[in-house]
Amino acid sequence: MSIQIAPSILSADYANLESELHRITEADWVHVDVMDNHFVPNLTWGLPVVERIAQVSPLPLDTHLMIDNADRWAPQYAEAGSHSVTFHAEATQAPVRLARELRRQGARAGIALRPATGIEPYLDLLPEFDMVLIMTVEPGFGGQSFIESMVHKIRRTRAAIDANQLDVWVQVDGGISEKTIDQAADAGANVFVAGSAVFNAEDIPAQITTLRSLAQD
Ligand code: DX5
Ligand code: ZN
Repeated sequence: MSIQIAPSILSADYANLESELHRITEADWVHVDVMDNHFVPNLTWGLPVVERIAQVSPLPLDTHLMIDNADRWAPQYAEAGSHSVTFHAEATQAPVRLARELRRQGARAGIALRPATGIEPYLDLLPEFDMVLIMTVEPGFGGQSFIESMVHKIRRTRAAIDANQLDVWVQVDGGISEKTIDQAADAGANVFVAGSAVFNAEDIPAQITTLRSLAQD
């Protein structure tokens, strides 16, 4: 399973987004957090900004939608140039229909679970998705600490994927740093989002390399 690092620009300098995007080219994806102040108590950016980020980013966009009414909005983020669109299980009425629509548009389709949402109702649906995002903090803010009890959810998800020989990625997001990445990797995650651990580092490329090698061990 390939290890991938996705720095979150939630921790970047918003007045200099384009140059911030050029500081993370050592990574595999740029993780773009869209928040609507309803699904989560925080607000970031919407379609026009994501569209411009997609135009200038050297890395493909891994867009994480923390917004209500994903069924209506997610396809527009694929249209805006996201290579991967992840919507929350709690914010969709029809996850399979939505994932199929995103794939039809040529994007990868991801489903995200808040810490209190179990993977069990989604196990039979795994073939419909390219990625499962297991939130390791409550979504909404950067810089929170990793919820260790999510390790079991990562493990159960990876076991179900492997038992069915599926090619579904397991992403973790929240509190991922040099201290926590090995636990998540060990449990079966292969895509690692890191906001503060990347953007607060003195040497960003070196930090990305460190995270990658810790995850590979
Ligand atoms: C939080 C966002 C994360 C955030 C992670 O809800 O989904 O992507 O940027 O930040 P850190 O890595 O600082 O926990
Ligand atoms: Zn995120």
